[in-house]
Amino acid sequence: MKRVWMVFLPALFLAFLCWSSALEAAEKTGAGGKGEKINDDYAGSEVCMGCHDEQTKSMGRNSHWKKAIKESPISNKGCESCHGPGGEHVRQGGGTIGSLITFSKSEPAQKKAPICLSCHENSSQLALWDSGVHKKQDVACSDCHSVHGAVRPQTGYGTTRVGLGYTPGPEYQTCGKCHLDVKAQINRRSHHPIIEGRITCSNCHQPHGSMGPSQIKAASVNQLCYKCHAEKRGPYMFEHPPVEENCAACHTAHGSVHAKLTVEKVPNLCQGCHDGTRHPATRYSRETLLTGAVPSNKSYNRSCLNCHANIHGSNAPSNPGSLGNSGSYFLR
Ligand code: HEC
Ligand code: HEC
Ligand code: HEC
Ligand code: HEC
Ligand code: HEC
Ligand code: HEC
Ligand code: HEC
Ligand code: HEC
Ligand code: HEC
Ligand code: HEC
Repeated sequence: MKRVWMVFLPALFLAFLCWSSALEAAEKTGAGGKGEKINDDYAGSEVCMGCHDEQTKSMGRNSHWKKAIKESPISNKGCESCHGPGGEHVRQGGGTIGSLITFSKSEPAQKKAPICLSCHENSSQLALWDSGVHKKQDVACSDCHSVHGAVRPQTGYGTTRVGLGYTPGPEYQTCGKCHLDVKAQINRRSHHPIIEGRITCSNCHQPHGSMGPSQIKAASVNQLCYKCHAEKRGPYMFEHPPVEENCAACHTAHGSVHAKLTVEKVPNLCQGCHDGTRHPATRYSRETLLTGAVPSNKSYNRSCLNCHANIHGSNAPSNPGSLGNSGSYFLR
């Protein structure tokens, strides 16, 4: 009997040790049970604020710092809601970053975005973030949103700073940091009034991700254009097929060196599709060359548009017998 206890007691003690350390480990493990250690070495915002004056001031102008909002960082872990536990950083007098997340360029986006998403993933705007191009290209929330550079949100057209703190300055400059080609396009002779502040990139694009092509805020290019150019939807008695099909057959959205955002100069634009019309669509014949005795009415001034003025479609009656009177030819 005595010998049994001599084996059993140490075994029981060992079992207790294992159980208690397992409990401790479980307490430190993330809720998802992914084996990630929870670091609860928080210092509290008051401490951070003692040393980081500038960021403290900027937070004060920020909707993240509203005590009235229950889910806001200030109502939770404060600075450490975003930066993570800063105990180690504080004990070293700021001498080491420790486990802090600094949102610096060197940290990968996959490490930064989940922090923001932990509070924002239910926003309808972010519903398609996971399938969006920006996430796939390692763009972080903080590449567009400047949490500390925040100004109060402004809305509507004429906006220069939308939402909460984009990098200070107009939105197109934030986007233009990376989209240099588009930035060049919006400065061309004909352009959507983006630099004038009348519309923004995000009037047309959902930067977080969308179902449409090129993350536009519509199912197709035409549906997008109709939002602001409803009159082009028709219906027309006489339709010009490419208009219904795709505005982009003739227009570019950002900017063009040709008038009215067209992808090509008229008549070349038209001649891309109409090479064999009854009246010669080609202006470069011997008789009609601009340098000839009689300059071609197909080159002069507005070229084809001199006569085919209602290029998107016409509701005028058609009377093919009398020239210049015909809706079906978009003459009026
Ligand atoms: C004793 C002063 C002190 C305290 C307290 C302190 N910090 Fe710091 N912190 C510093 C110093 C010094 C640096 C390094 C120099 C720098 O980059 O500003 C630094 C750096 C940082 C950085 C990185 C800056 C960068 O450019 O990479 C972040 C983020 C930061 N601290 C956040 C916090 C947070 C959050 C807290 C509270 C948990 C906190 N700090 C508390 C002094 C402090
Ligand atoms: C909502 C999330 C969030 C909260 C809350 C927050 N920060 Fe930040 N912090 C960031 C992000 C993101 C950056 C990277 C720069 C940027 O986007 O403005 C940053 C950068 C910093 C930096 C590095 C220097 C800089 O400006 O780039 C310091 C220091 C800092 N924060 C301190 C603080 C302190 C102190 C608090 C609390 C008063 C705080 N942060 C609260 C998200 C946050
Ligand atoms: C602890 C929760 C929490 C975290 C973490 C958090 N936010 Fe927020 N955020 C909020 C709340 C709450 C609001 C205010 C919503 C409101 O006004 O109804 C907000 C507002 C915003 C807004 C919109 C501002 C406006 O006024 O419309 C943006 C943009 C934003 N956060 C970006 C971020 C980014 C980027 C990060 C990560 C660096 C982040 N948030 C981290 C809770 C959080
Ligand atoms: C490519 C730039 C870009 C990136 C990356 C980005 N955002 Fe945004 N975000 C914007 C723009 C632009 C708006 C304004 C959209 C609008 O008005 O339609 C916005 C709006 C918001 C809003 C305000 C929504 C509202 O209802 O007012 C929140 C919150 C937000 N973003 C959070 C995030 C979070 C969290 C991430 C990272 C997971 C993120 N954003 C990544 C550009 C970006
Ligand atoms: C008037 C609406 C509109 C505005 C404003 C707008 N875009 Fe676009 N964008 C489009 C359309 C339409 C496409 C092409 C969609 C397709 O056919 O796939 C596009 C395509 C893109 C593409 C992908 C392919 C390419 O052409 O380079 C990028 C990147 C882009 N836009 C960025 C921007 C940026 C950055 C801004 C602000 C400076 C902006 N857009 C403003 C409508 C717009
Ligand atoms: C940190 C860099 C960065 C910033 C800032 C940025 N983008 Fe992008 N964006 C990218 C990259 C990388 C891609 C993928 C490659 C490409 O198409 O150019 C992309 C792709 C896109 C596309 C094409 C999507 C597709 O399906 O082809 C659009 C539209 C777009 N961005 C719009 C915006 C808008 C609007 C903003 C500003 C609110 C913005 N981006 C800010 C890096 C950025
Ligand atoms: C968010 C609103 C909005 C959307 C969406 C939009 N536009 Fe525009 N568009 C405008 C505004 C504003 C102007 C300037 C009108 C003015 O100056 O009177 C404009 C002007 C134009 C012009 C004339 C440009 C010039 O040089 O005079 C063309 C062509 C045009 N848009 C085509 C399109 C096409 C094609 C689409 C779809 C890809 C589109 N728009 C989507 C708002 C929009
Ligand atoms: C067959 C080529 C073609 C197609 C397709 C086309 N457009 Fe146009 N669009 C033109 C031409 C050419 C002009 C210049 C007309 C002028 O100067 O009289 C123009 C001018 C415009 C203008 C500025 C002048 C005005 O009439 O308001 C807008 C806005 C416009 N188009 C929108 C659209 C939209 C939206 C679509 C798609 C639904 C579209 N266009 C499809 C050729 C086209
Ligand atoms: C993307 C191709 C495309 C472009 C670009 C284009 N068209 Fe058309 N156009 C068509 C198609 C397709 C029809 C229908 C032809 C048919 O019904 O036989 C048409 C019909 C017409 C008609 C009526 C012809 C008829 O027989 O009823 C006229 C006039 C016309 N286009 C003029 C123009 C002018 C002027 C331009 C330049 C501003 C232009 N088109 C640009 C594709 C195009
Ligand atoms: C001086 C006025 C005028 C100019 C300029 C003009 N057209 Fe026409 N076009 C007409 C008239 C009138 C008709 C219908 C009568 C007919 O059958 O010839 C017509 C018919 C058409 C048709 C449909 C009939 C067919 O031949 O297939 C097309 C397509 C067309 N034009 C394209 C163009 C293009 C492209 C240009 C520019 C290179 C152009 N037009 C310049 C007056 C003009």
